[in-house]
Amino acid sequence: MARAAATTILTLLLPTNSSLGLYASADSSQTGLLMALNFAFLEGKFNGSTLIVLGRNAVFSATREMPIVGGSGVFRFARGYAKARTHFSDFKTSDAVVQYDVYVLHY
Ligand SMILES: *[C@@H]1O[C@H](CO)[C@@H](O)[C@H](O)[C@H]1NC(C)=O
Repeated sequence: MARAAATTILTLLLPTNSSLGLYASADSSQTGLLMALNFAFLEGKFNGSTLIVLGRNAVFSATREMPIVGGSGVFRFARGYAKARTHFSDFKTSDAVVQYDVYVLHY
């Protein structure tokens, strides 16, 4: 049976450090990184589901848009985008707090 697509809008506030996610250099002129990030939901309505973000992250830009390329559980066949905004960062400790506004279309 076909199910209608749903749109989910999430705001995720992520305390992070440089060890979270997979980064690759993707730019020679400014700090542009290729980032792969796996959001795994461990509670609530989406417990057990994941969302995969893969795209260019120009870390020094105020907002960065990255594609949602897929997911699992509730987010199977997910497509969408995430907008990342850094609220706080400390280059000495590599700590940061980043807000991800996620718009995702799924079934
Ligand atoms: C999330 O799901 C797992 C696996 O089903 C379960 O063990 C866990 O208790 C759930 N967590 C919450 C907060 O509901």
